[in-house]
Amino acid sequence: MIYSQIVGTGRYLPERIMTNADLEKIVDTTDEWIRTRTGIEQRHVAEDDQKTSDLCVEAAKVAMEEAGVTVEDIDLIVVGTTSPDLIFPNIATIIQHKMGIPACAAFSIEAACTGFVYALSTADKFIRAGDTKCALVIGAEIITKLIDWGDRSTCVLFGDGAGAVILKPSEEQGIVSTHLGADGQYKDLLYYPVGVSNNLAAAGVGDSRIIMSGNDVFKVAVKTLSSVAKEALDANNLSLDDVDWIIPHQANLRILQAMAKRLKVSMDKVIQTVQIHGNTSAASVPMALDVGIRDGRIKRGQTLLLVAFGGGFTWGSVLLRY
Ligand code: COA
Repeated sequence: MIYSQIVGTGRYLPERIMTNADLEKIVDTTDEWIRTRTGIEQRHVAEDDQKTSDLCVEAAKVAMEEAGVTVEDIDLIVVGTTSPDLIFPNIATIIQHKMGIPACAAFSIEAACTGFVYALSTADKFIRAGDTKCALVIGAEIITKLIDWGDRSTCVLFGDGAGAVILKPSEEQGIVSTHLGADGQYKDLLYYPVGVSNNLAAAGVGDSRIIMSGNDVFKVAVKTLSSVAKEALDANNLSLDDVDWIIPHQANLRILQAMAKRLKVSMDKVIQTVQIHGNTSAASVPMALDVGIRDGRIKRGQTLLLVAFGGGFTWGSVLLRY
């Protein structure tokens, strides 16, 4: 039996930090409101000339170094993102070229904030099928370029970043199971109203913004993150006592607290980065994973449960032995 094993992780955050106090200067909000409603204290924001692929390259370099692999070893690149550099070619090929990775399959997956979990699940299937020996899997966003900085209901929530993992085949158990899902009936609760075949010509810079029904999204997020966690545990006859760390998509601290309450699990078991990263969409899960590994909390042999949720709605989980 072949399993996929995570052999290296990395993250990259743009240098520029925007605090809640900085936001108070540009929109009608307060640090107190943002902290109490979301838990967010600061977020990183990319420079105008930074591309999502730039963030990916930096995160990938760290993950590859930790894994002890070179560009010659990589034979699959999968990137979860909703904010690619270009409509085409896909961002994975741009990263491939920037890093000098030899010819291999390279593609991106768009599943909003669930993008990394979709990407990891897909790469896992390539590895288990025997087609891939070393996959670079990334979740990355420069979501702040989609933000209307005059819309206080959304601009305080998001941030930029990239997280990367290197996956290799192993005879020892690594990724145990993955579960993906989506329900398109919720599209109107969270979306960006411009696409290639929809309003593209009419849209100018700053004309569009993220459309979100915050309260409705909040409720579905709590319910979905909890049910997707239970689905993964039930499928493997495990309970939360068997899980060392839950690594959820980081949208809002209150969503994480409500999820933990519903699952009857302590917040001490939940890796939390939303306070310092904001909601980085597809980048949030791999960056939280990397934070937990690098600060020493997540140790080899432990059981991790990655859960995510995003626009669509999309959702997914990855249960793994690290
Ligand atoms: N600063 C100050 N006041 C703000 C504000 C801000 N940044 N944003 C909204 N408000 C105001 C609203 O205008 C509203 O005022 P009103 O009562 O006079 O109309 C009030 O705060 C309450 O707004 P409400 O939307 O009910 O707040 P909330 O407690 O639901 O929190 C969110 C709003 C967006 C933080 C919360 O709904 C949320 O996090 N939802 C999920 C969003 C998400 O995670 N999206 C991504 C999913 S992947």
